[in-house]
Amino acid sequence: MQKKEDNLMEKIVSLCKRRGFIFQGSEIYGGLAGTYDYGHFGLALKNNIKQNWWKKFVDNRHDMYGIDAAILMRQEVWQNAGHVANFADPMVECEKCKEKFRTDQIEDKNKCSVCCGRLGEAKQFNMMFQTKVGASDDSSAISYLRPETAQGMFVNFKNTVDAFHPKLPFGMAQIGKAFRNEITPRDFIFRVREFEQMEIEYFVREGDWEKYFKYWKDEMIEWMESIGLDMSKVHELEVEDGDRAHYSKRTVDFEFDYPFGRKELFGLAYRTDFDLKNHKLDYIDEEKGEKIVPHVIEPTFGVDRAVLSLLLSAYNEDDIERPFFKFNPSIAPVICAVSPLLKNKPELVEYANTKVFAPLKAEFGRVIWDDNGNIGKRYRRQDEIGTPYCIVIDFDTLTDDTVTVRDRDTGEQERVKVENLKEYIQEKIN
Ligand code: GAP
Repeated sequence: MQKKEDNLMEKIVSLCKRRGFIFQGSEIYGGLAGTYDYGHFGLALKNNIKQNWWKKFVDNRHDMYGIDAAILMRQEVWQNAGHVANFADPMVECEKCKEKFRTDQIEDKNKCSVCCGRLGEAKQFNMMFQTKVGASDDSSAISYLRPETAQGMFVNFKNTVDAFHPKLPFGMAQIGKAFRNEITPRDFIFRVREFEQMEIEYFVREGDWEKYFKYWKDEMIEWMESIGLDMSKVHELEVEDGDRAHYSKRTVDFEFDYPFGRKELFGLAYRTDFDLKNHKLDYIDEEKGEKIVPHVIEPTFGVDRAVLSLLLSAYNEDDIERPFFKFNPSIAPVICAVSPLLKNKPELVEYANTKVFAPLKAEFGRVIWDDNGNIGKRYRRQDEIGTPYCIVIDFDTLTDDTVTVRDRDTGEQERVKVENLKEYIQEKIN
């Protein structure tokens, strides 16, 4: 089995469309740039990533508080967070064809790469989508689609402290949509205008920030490894002064070797007390009897970039260049497919359905029924979507209550007792 890097993005994009993972947004009307729709298997993969993240960083901890804040917030949130003034990319427009470019992404700052026309003056383009709340047309109705989930946590800091009385250090976590009016959305789901983030704001005493920065860096690495990212393609980048976001005193980006270059995957920032201070929020340490403004360590993960880097990590081709995804069982959209050897033999179908498919489906959810075509074709179809196990019910099953379990990666088959199937699959997931 060898990995093919040639035209990798084209192959992934095409496979994702053909097998129902990811589609261009508004495709039947010609597409809307920077938007993608997740089909059944892509959505399953995305949900598994999010659930896995939530389990590690929220459910398995005692110091993390979840939140699901409204996307629309008052404009003061974004004014005080500094986004109205600072959340902008430098942009130039071609005077001839009107094509727009991000100045930091072009080599020739004077000549248009599309029509060779002259490029105009660079200006700052604010990436927040502005909207109006309610029927009023005056400026007080202005709101924004949030460009980061983080602010939904900061504005609920006081609510969380009042409701749960957490002791420092503690964190807030949120998974949700974010929107950025990117000047040049590109590279499939890498840079889009509507995406999802999984973010943590971890509140610490100022003197502890370095300790927790290191701690969260290790946690992020551990999670990336656990979902099956190709860690040989993940690199840390210390972001220099001048390149960091307006709120950050230290940022480490985790970059990934995408086929289109080494670019940001996730980030870790030391946001200091910038946000809480700007929202005029503080924390009373009851034991010490003091009022402080906690400092913040922020591990941030883009869900869509997690999906893309996982697709790239899992993509493989067999000896005759047929693609398959080698997803970890814990993250695969489908954990197993159940097949009666022949679909026109009612006794096989009945057994497969009632004694294998129904109980496994009830237990794991991510189980599908596949009785289309011959067994070879079924295996092939499941390999393409990255199903780790195919279970076949044959005539021997009717007499000895065993089934064949075929392993995607080795092609090997073993007989497993039907009564042991649940534990067998659970062990593989673990
Ligand atoms: N709260 C901090 C924050 O939003 P960011 O580095 O601007 O930091 C966090 O974004 C993560 O969101 C990135 O590391 C990336 O994974 C993802 N992300 C950012 N812009 C994106 C876009 N246009 N399309 C897809 N994912 C994006």
